[in-house]
Amino acid sequence: MIDIHTHILPGIDDGAQDEQEAILMARAAVQEGIKAVIATPHHANGRYDNPGHEIQKRTQALNLALSEHRIALEVLPGQEVRIHQGLLEDLEQGKIITLSGSKYLLLELPSGMVPSYTEEMIHELIVLGITPIIAHPERNAELASSPSVLMRLLERGALTQLTSHAVDGRFGRKLQKLCLEWCRQGMVHMISSDAHNINDRPFGLKNAYAAISAHLNDTLAEELKDNTERLISRLEIRTLQPVLLNRKWWKLW
Ligand SMILES: [Fe+2]
Repeated sequence: MIDIHTHILPGIDDGAQDEQEAILMARAAVQEGIKAVIATPHHANGRYDNPGHEIQKRTQALNLALSEHRIALEVLPGQEVRIHQGLLEDLEQGKIITLSGSKYLLLELPSGMVPSYTEEMIHELIVLGITPIIAHPERNAELASSPSVLMRLLERGALTQLTSHAVDGRFGRKLQKLCLEWCRQGMVHMISSDAHNINDRPFGLKNAYAAISAHLNDTLAEELKDNTERLISRLEIRTLQPVLLNRKWWKLW
């Protein structure tokens, strides 16, 4: 498995606090069957600023530490970028980087609402050849209550990434139902952990894919998994077809 959204780089945001904690996270990832993670430290969220060149440097250092500890996990550079008015300029100046050098950018919205300029910014990014992936849309109050708003962002060309613990039910039944409904409607492209540590924000990818298999179907679980592989292989991410209802799905309602 591949995890495209993690806070494993030590000491630069609210994820791993030091190298020791990053090593523990890396061991947990390997144990779960994850072979590569993209490190996506917070950037421009009002609390943390982690420019691209710093992330590249720290990713190299962590990979070195992992090989010294004989941990078979590859860490790739990325960034979780909070949407902001100067995003395009920051991108041009190299402060903003995409996921592992691909054309995909992990874009975070504020938790309460969708800024009025979001659709326009998605459009501008698409024109530049960059596809934004909306990080954990299920955590945005406006998107969670208005599927039509999320649909408009998708129509503009954005993709979505759900959090593993929202999908597997750890964050509550209500959120899980929302995630499964979006999956059923073909509005989801990837699942990743947003792991911050091994205690209260671990990986949980295995459980999330198992939940998709159990409540929807195995094919969708495989397709979602495959999309993360495609991303790091620089292949186009596939848009997934809506899932037909099955008996297990009805049990949720
Ligand atoms: Fe995150």
